[in-house]
Amino acid sequence: MRPLLLILTIIAIAVAASAVPADKVELSVDLSKSGPTISRYLFGQFAEHLGHGIYEGIWVGPDSAIPNTRGIRNDVVAALKAIKVPDVRWPGGCFADEYHWRNGVGPQRVVTLNPNWGGVIEPNTFGTDEFMDFLNQIGAEPYISVNVGSGAPREAAEWLEYMTASQPTTLEKERAANGHPAPYKVGFMGIGNESWACGGNMTEDYYLSQLKIYSRFVRNFNPEQQDTDQMLKIAVGPGGPDTRWTEAVMKAYQTHGWSWDINGLSLHSYTVPHWPPSFASVGFGETEYSQILKSTLEMEDLITRQSAVMDQYDPQKKVTLVVDEWGAWYAPLPGSNPGFLVQQNSMRDAILAALNLNIFARHADRVRMANIAQMVNVLQSMILTDKEKMVLTPTYYIFKMYVPFQDATFVPVTFDAGTYTNGNITLPRVDAIAAKDKSGKLWLEITNLDPNQPVDIEASLAGITAKSASGETLTAPMVDSVNTFDAPNTVVPKPVSAKVQGGKLVLRLEPKSVTVISVQQ
Ligand code: AHR
Repeated sequence: MRPLLLILTIIAIAVAASAVPADKVELSVDLSKSGPTISRYLFGQFAEHLGHGIYEGIWVGPDSAIPNTRGIRNDVVAALKAIKVPDVRWPGGCFADEYHWRNGVGPQRVVTLNPNWGGVIEPNTFGTDEFMDFLNQIGAEPYISVNVGSGAPREAAEWLEYMTASQPTTLEKERAANGHPAPYKVGFMGIGNESWACGGNMTEDYYLSQLKIYSRFVRNFNPEQQDTDQMLKIAVGPGGPDTRWTEAVMKAYQTHGWSWDINGLSLHSYTVPHWPPSFASVGFGETEYSQILKSTLEMEDLITRQSAVMDQYDPQKKVTLVVDEWGAWYAPLPGSNPGFLVQQNSMRDAILAALNLNIFARHADRVRMANIAQMVNVLQSMILTDKEKMVLTPTYYIFKMYVPFQDATFVPVTFDAGTYTNGNITLPRVDAIAAKDKSGKLWLEITNLDPNQPVDIEASLAGITAKSASGETLTAPMVDSVNTFDAPNTVVPKPVSAKVQGGKLVLRLEPKSVTVISVQQ
């Protein structure tokens, strides 16, 4: 095409695009009001010994041709550092209740099987010290899940002693001999995993008796953490809307004495409209897009319902609701091992992630920790790898765009969301949260769920003299657009044009987009 013709074509396309009719949504943000802190731990991750989540995804071994530091891949570390991962839950999941930590320390590793996830060999080459090294490299804290299902209180107690003792006990010396004289800091401990299912099919009463024993005897010996407030002890909680399990644990909590305690209750909730998971992660259309978003928005009711029960027994909200498994769970990618839970990650997942993070932020007084499932190569991951190749998913970019919300103060934002309808499904057209960071800067996140129509936003900003605004938006050509090893930049954030006019923030949201704006005063 000749240069002049090309320029005229570009201008014509730009004029046509700006002429697309857009619905208008008005938001009100009031900086003079503020809510709780949006804990950085809401942006936590989960890495299980499952498929290529650990082996190949994180650990390639020191002799690998893939660039690594002490066996941990450098490309994955660099990508995770950029999203400021606060904590990683490990080693499972269902795997945790069959994990025996001794198999994975020292020069001689015990080779076992991984019956939960494909029955493959578990070499135990990635164990406690490798996990801590990985966390140190990415700058995150450990969330350890101890084995209640097939382990014993003594085994878990010795694991904590190995990790945290500073006095010269035999286990402390063993850790030092393994190259780690300084005690590790373990700030989070999960006592079992889904004990009502893969964690041992326990009744509430049976679990409670185990919980009390583990809570009593599995101690943190790190001198900097002996005040129990320094380690969140997280009990197994519900896996859906049924509140009986929550009721039982919280009732016990209310009457607990000096000899046992918890300060966290886990909640697992995947976006999976049907079991077994049958929705495809690629090659879908607007019907499946709207069905999945409808399903994911059920997180709001679920948290409200479970929090209400917690409020009855813990009105001061001392116990954190820890949503330590969440995300989309789709059908395994054709040709993959079904036990490896491999799925692609699309623009739909980016919107799904934003909606859930916003729900957590709105419940930040009770929900102070969450861990998406899972970090690399499994379910709704941040990163996909294939041998030496790595690609960042749309969900990764959401976590990156939300970094300014980590530990920011929630600021109420009110709006009439309008609606987006597809067939018999009606969803809110937009969703939004606002927060003030430590320097006082206002951050606004706005999601346009409508995959077809842009939305014009006009936000009134009380309690601030706004001068200018800037930000980024994540959108894609299609709802099922993905990043691949060959085309890694299909869904990546781009600068967005936002203005302050007459004290109001004005911008246009692209269809199916997630936008984060900062307002300069
Ligand atoms: O994340 C995959 C599995 O889902 C976990 O191992 C288990 O806790 C849950 O059922």
